[in-house]
Amino acid sequence: MSDEELIAAARDAAANAYAPYSDYPVGAALRFADGAIVTGTNIENASYGLSLCAETLAVSKALAEGRRGGLERIAVVGPKGKGGDAPITPCGRCRQTLNEIAQLGGTDPLVLCVGANEVLELRLSELLPHGFGPAHLD
Ligand code: THU
Repeated sequence: MSDEELIAAARDAAANAYAPYSDYPVGAALRFADGAIVTGTNIENASYGLSLCAETLAVSKALAEGRRGGLERIAVVGPKGKGGDAPITPCGRCRQTLNEIAQLGGTDPLVLCVGANEVLELRLSELLPHGFGPAHLD
């Protein structure tokens, strides 16, 4: 699957966002070495603080499917017209969550942070330098 298709998968996922409080739907798509795509979207909660981000949902789904590595690429898409249309970058907790499955498989996935006019491409290790992960507990 091309980067464009991965971004399209993230955008499709955002259509199912449950984000009535922020009105900020987000979609994430994870691409694995075997070609599988796992998507997620943000799921908010009336308590606000219990809200879950799109990337965290996607990683949870992947782990629940038995995936323990092979994460190669990630696309994250937010709504148009917000934040000056700048590329959306994963929040701190999502960086840590992504690092868990990445480090399990020994990969440093490329993160496609999608904006209205540009796609910012960063390695997860650039977003989370010196991250703590499962390898530390071996
Ligand atoms: N959100 C994500 O799903 N992913 C991110 O990378 C940033 C923020 C969600 C959380 C919340 O539901 C909404 O976007 C506004 O912060």
